Amino acid sequence: METLKERVAEAAAGALGITLEEARDALEPPRDPRLGDLALPCFALAKRQKRNPAEIAAAAAARIVCAPPLAAVRAAGPYLNFCLVPGAVAAAVIGRVLAEGPAYGGSRAGAGQTVVIDFSSPNIAKPFGIHHLRSTVIGAAIGRILRARGHDVVGVNHLGDWGTQFGQLIVAFRRWGDEGRLAAEKIPYLLELYVRFNAERKAQPALQEEARAAFRALEQGDAEARALWRRFREVSEAEFRRIYELLGVRFEHFTGESFYEERMPAVVAELERQGLLVESEDATIVDLSADGLGVSIIKKADDSTLYMTRDLAAAIYRFETFRFVHALYVVGAAQTLHFRQLFRVLELLGRPFARDLVHVPFGLLRFRDAKMSTREGRVIYLEDVLQRAVELARQKIREKNPDLADAERVARAVGIGAVVFNDLKNRRIKDVTFDWDELLAFEGDTGPYLQYAHARIASVFRKAGRDPAALAGPFCFALLDSLAERDVTRAVALYPEAVARAAAEYEPSVVSQHLLDLAAVLNRFYIECRILGVEPALSEARLALVRAAQITIKNGLALLGIEAPDEM
Ligand code: ARG
Repeated sequence: METLKERVAEAAAGALGITLEEARDALEPPRDPRLGDLALPCFALAKRQKRNPAEIAAAAAARIVCAPPLAAVRAAGPYLNFCLVPGAVAAAVIGRVLAEGPAYGGSRAGAGQTVVIDFSSPNIAKPFGIHHLRSTVIGAAIGRILRARGHDVVGVNHLGDWGTQFGQLIVAFRRWGDEGRLAAEKIPYLLELYVRFNAERKAQPALQEEARAAFRALEQGDAEARALWRRFREVSEAEFRRIYELLGVRFEHFTGESFYEERMPAVVAELERQGLLVESEDATIVDLSADGLGVSIIKKADDSTLYMTRDLAAAIYRFETFRFVHALYVVGAAQTLHFRQLFRVLELLGRPFARDLVHVPFGLLRFRDAKMSTREGRVIYLEDVLQRAVELARQKIREKNPDLADAERVARAVGIGAVVFNDLKNRRIKDVTFDWDELLAFEGDTGPYLQYAHARIASVFRKAGRDPAALAGPFCFALLDSLAERDVTRAVALYPEAVARAAAEYEPSVVSQHLLDLAAVLNRFYIECRILGVEPALSEARLALVRAAQITIKNGLALLGIEAPDEM
């Protein structure tokens, strides 16, 4: 496709009297594929030459002498439209997809550039709630997309494993805890202790003081406090890892806030040295009110540190360790102020990398009828949600395809894929509604729908008794000349651009939406075109076309973290 575009750019540059580079940049797919394969809008040129764009287009069209791969040039208003010889685009696009296979859509654009992605980052001793699902799924997808673009990606799980709440939990465990129950019940038991502490501290204010002392002891390395804390962390981590396993998510760094414990004093000292710290009533702060960002608390009166202090140390550590070009924080929109403060304080500290830190926010996740909230006691465990999704998929398979081989693997792929796609289908900043029926439907904009589009192509090959991987050509691509066929070709051709845009905007939904578009044009293609039982050369070319579409869907789903089984 690139070489074809280059030929067209040469013709356009000559006829319009512009540079090759300008022509190359201006060429775009026409809004209506019936108009041709590439279009060049003449507005910018018209403005420069103070002429009418339609006249420029008409004059240029008359000047160009077509030679293959160029078949025709026509002016349509201010646009110059180029048609390539039948099959030229299909040959270039399909040829490339078949050759590249699983690598199709990727590039080396980001080679040599490291991007750090802080994502998932749940809090220990609390359930991995459904609200942490979004960060996990979005962050992992961004990581895969950037990797496909050649970046070195460092996925970091900044576990919430430090802070005054662990003082409370230590006190609760000392008073009421039972190791037997902890070993058996795990996180729900820790949550129970935490809830009990908060209920009892109202009646016994001394508890709060005890908890503060316990956290101080923890920060100072007290052995008993550390041992308890380590146990809470271990129990939590084991549960989290099971969820990551289900979702197929990995981290290069599984560190957590406690990791920065030793690195905080240096940051606080540096803030001090630069005169940025202010003593206020019961805390040490950085005053950001001149920037409209309020105050950022660095230390409490009892010297205990905060989430912010640890984030400051973490950002500096990450830059010094990884020399990133960008460091992303995939965290809900509720923490927008926190990140603006963090970036601003680093800027005040004179750290140039502060410019390269990006908060990648996202909207809320809600169940169709009840808002999810731990505070209201309605805890929804993500693991249960995932297991339920797999169970529903299992039931569906039993109903529709009881003889399916490998049914268990497919049920997992479909169930988890449905939950993941539901989260990645729209722009991340939008709130997501969680509705079991919608999410698992085989029609509509769902994960299973895309998996089905992929499996359907596999079934065409099975029916034909052909091995899709052995499809070798030569193909008569000029036969793929109907509008439906050209639409499929075009959707496949534009996929790498969708990946590039998703990477640039940290927006996996660009890939999701592109796959939905591809599935839609494929459905039209099936209605209008038969693949098997037509003339052999046509059948072969169409097989190549759907094979290219299948590879594209599989690659796109893989970037989102969704498997594409061959049968379902
Ligand atoms: N543990 C935090 C939470 O659950 C998210 C941490 C995000 N990462 C960070 N570097 N602040 O809200």
